[in-house]
Parts: sequence; C-alpha cells; structure tokens
Amino acid sequence: MASEPAAVLIVEDSLSLGSIYRGYLRNEPCVVTHVPDGASAMARIESDPPDALLLDLQLPDMDGMDILRHVHDRRMPIAVVIITGHGSVDKAVDAMRYGAFDFVEKPVASERIIVTVRNAIEKVRMRSFVDRLADDFRRESYHGFLGSSLPMQAVYRIIDSAAPSKATVFITGESGSGKEVCAEAIHHASDRRDKPFVALNCAAIPRDLMESEIFGHIKGAFTGAVRDRTGAAKQADGGTLFLDEIAEMDLDLQTKLLRFIQTGSFQPVGASQLERVDVRFVCATNRDPLAEVAAGRFREDLFYRLHVIPIHLPALREREGDILELASSFLARYAHEEGKRLAGFDADVEAIFLAYAWPGNVRQLQNVIQNVVVLYDGERVTRAMLPPPLDDIDPSVPPRTAAPPSDTHQRRRASDDAAIRPLKDIEREAIEQAIAYYNDNIPQAAAALGVSPSTIYRKKQTWGNAAR
Ligand SMILES: Nc1ncnc2c1ncn2[C@@H]1O[C@H](COP(=O)(O)OP(=O)(O)OP(=O)(O)O)[C@@H](O)[C@H]1O
Ligand SMILES: [Mg+2]
Repeated sequence: MASEPAAVLIVEDSLSLGSIYRGYLRNEPCVVTHVPDGASAMARIESDPPDALLLDLQLPDMDGMDILRHVHDRRMPIAVVIITGHGSVDKAVDAMRYGAFDFVEKPVASERIIVTVRNAIEKVRMRSFVDRLADDFRRESYHGFLGSSLPMQAVYRIIDSAAPSKATVFITGESGSGKEVCAEAIHHASDRRDKPFVALNCAAIPRDLMESEIFGHIKGAFTGAVRDRTGAAKQADGGTLFLDEIAEMDLDLQTKLLRFIQTGSFQPVGASQLERVDVRFVCATNRDPLAEVAAGRFREDLFYRLHVIPIHLPALREREGDILELASSFLARYAHEEGKRLAGFDADVEAIFLAYAWPGNVRQLQNVIQNVVVLYDGERVTRAMLPPPLDDIDPSVPPRTAAPPSDTHQRRRASDDAAIRPLKDIEREAIEQAIAYYNDNIPQAAAALGVSPSTIYRKKQTWGNAAR
C-alpha cells in the first residue's frame, strides 16, 4: 500500500540479540535500526518515529514498559511488539492494556518475528491510511448544506450515522443556522427519502388548529370541519415528520404528541378509531430546550423522548472558514438568477464579513448578498454596496467573538494579496502553534485542530527535526 519501506526500531540491550533480530528481518522490505538502551530509544522515537518497535522490557536504564506507555499516551502511530524473557502473565496483561500490538517470549523464532513485524506494519499503515482518508474527506457540501468548516464536518458525520436509524433527532441552533436544512438532510440521507418529508411549524399554526394539523380530523369534528382531513402524521407515513419550533407547542398537545411517539398511533380529532403510522420524528427549536423544561413550558418526559440524537448547529460566526465560502456561493447563485455580472468581493468587504457577528446566521448572509445583487451591478461587491449595519463595520476593530488575537491577525493578512503564503506553510504554522499551546501534547493539539494525532506525526516527519 505504501511506497516507502517501513521503519522498524529494535530496542534490545544485548548487542548479539539485536543483530540476530536484524538478521531475521534481513529480507523484509523495511529499514531496521537497533538501539541498546531506553534513552536512545526515546530519542529515536521522537526524532524519527518508526512504524514498528521491537521492545525488550528489561533495559539497562529504564523499564521498557515506560516506553510503551509513552507511545500509548501520546497515541503515536507505532505498533509495539514486546519481547521479554520469562513471560509473566501480569506483564503481558499490562502490555496489552497499554496498547502493545504483540507480546513475544524469548527465545524468539525467526518466523515469529517476521510474521509479527509484518502484521504490525500492516496495521500501522492501514490505520494511517484510514486517518488520511478521513482528513482528505472534508465535505464542502452535504444534502443542501454548504460549508467545509470543522464544526460542520461534525454535523455531517452525525447525520451520516443518525440517518439510517429511526431514532428521533433534536436539532438546536440559533435562528437562520440551518435547522430546517438539517431536518431535510436527515430525511434525504435516510432510506425514507422516497417517502414524504412533512414539516409542521408549531409556532406558525394557531393553537386550536394545531391538533388537527398533526392528527387530522373527521367531518363534523368541530365547526368548519366540513370534510375529513388528513393530518401531517398520516401524510408522513413511511417518511419523516419534522416538528419545527417544537418548544412553542401547547402543553395539552404535547401530551398527545408524547402518546403518539410512544405508541405510533393517534386519534384524528373527532374520530373514535386509532390510526397507526410509521414516521421518523425530527424536531427543532432555537430556544434552549432545558430552560423551557425548567420553566414548565415543555414537558420533561416529552423532551427526553425527543432528545435521543441531539444535533447542535454552530452559529455562522463559529464557522470561520465557511463565511466566505457561503458568500461566494450565494453571490454566484443570485448573480446568475438576476443576470448580473457581480463575481467577487473587495478585500474590505471580505474583512467586514469576517468581522461581523451575523446574529441572523446563514439566512442573514444570504439576504445581504441577495440585497446587494438586486440593487447593484458591477464586477465586484464593494463596501459601499453593503446594507446596514454592515456598511458601518470597521473590520480593523477586533471582531465579534473572543477569537484569539493571532487569529484576527491571520484573518486580516489573508485578505491582503501581498501576504498570501503557501498553504503548507500556514498549515505548518498552525500545527506548530497548536503543539506549543498544548505544551507538546500532540493528541490534545490534534484534537484542537480536528485531525488525528498520526496526521501530525506524519507532518512532523515530513518537516524533519526542524519542527521541534
Ligand atoms: N449550511 C448552509 N448552506 C447553505 N444554505 C444554508 C445553510 N444553512 C442555512 N442555509 C440557508 O439559510 C436559510 C435559513 O436556514 P433554515 O431555515 O434551515 O434555518 P433555521 O435554523 O431553521 O432558522 P429559524 O430558527 O429562523 O427557523 C435557508 O434559506 C437555508 O437554505
Ligand atoms: Mg427553521
């Protein structure tokens, strides 16, 4: 799978054993190095991490187990094969707990070493291949969503895993952050996609009509019910029922909804028979649902019934990378629709977009762009075209959120043509900053950067020792 030969490090205090093991691996496609003590092993692991480590537990200067723990704690992509004298079960158990790949007792047969090293390398390579795929697999759009920022990647992944199930999804997020887009995405990613998606806005329908909207009614059930009417529950049979603004639902109706969710059956208004349907529930609110529960406006038992898979949509201001991506895409769309030439933003417009807090999120950004496209023409969007309050933003004033200063600095530089630098330099700088920030703790830095630790180790390897 990989073109480069694998690296194997043997840590063994006996020089003769070390060279015997090397001999065993002579015909294997790997580069083998031997060090005789713990200190040199640690140095080597830092400077030039191998794919596989053959580790003797009894070293003159340290316990081999400490080396294993070091590799394990830092989640380094190294397969460790423990080699030990008289094997004690305790040691073996410990070694496995710390993620050792294999535990081999002396004396070791050549065949045993060859096979275990081959398997160890295979495993490490496979894992880093999978990690790399995951990193490369950043989606820029997903079932109606645009945006490749990390917070959105997390949303896409949750939808991927939740879509095939029937479990209820509870979507939260500020106004305009894409809750309805999310509900539709869940439907389209599920195998209910060919069946109806029925959305019901609990805030928009008068309370006394709501029950009939959901469950339907029979002719004569109430004044004005001149014929039978099918409700949303029945219409959504086999598909998805989206209860939008769920926190606005009347308490009485919440009780009926709870029963429907628990049993899958309901009674149309005025009917004596129960009807049974198969629907997947998705609901959304831009309120804090727990605060609504605490205030007595939202039934606690209903909340826990619905809150099976929570999805929180990040606010646009938390989705740094997405702002300009979305702005460009909306500009292209509206310019095309309106037959305008506008095809880009002036640098100060971009800086304003990045500095603004976007309380109305994606919807607000969409409206701003549409407003500009309808009212103006030209090659590029200039600051003078922006509607209030954006025309009044000073992008040099520290922005909206508590973003760290270095971040602001970088954002401003990015819009300055002269300061544009190769992506790999920026990437390296970001990784090194994160490593320094987390005091050399690579797993933490990796988590903060949203990549796997092995990605960082791999990058560091390609930069050589200078990165440390
Ligand atoms: N990630 C996105 N990519 C593209 N368009 C988006 C995205 N998120 C939202 N939109 C668009 O923004 C608008 C608002 O989205 P949506 O109606 O889903 O928001 P909402 O969270 O339901 O808002 P509200 O709380 O006001 O009901 C829609 O026109 C939608 O198409
Ligand atoms: Mg909505």
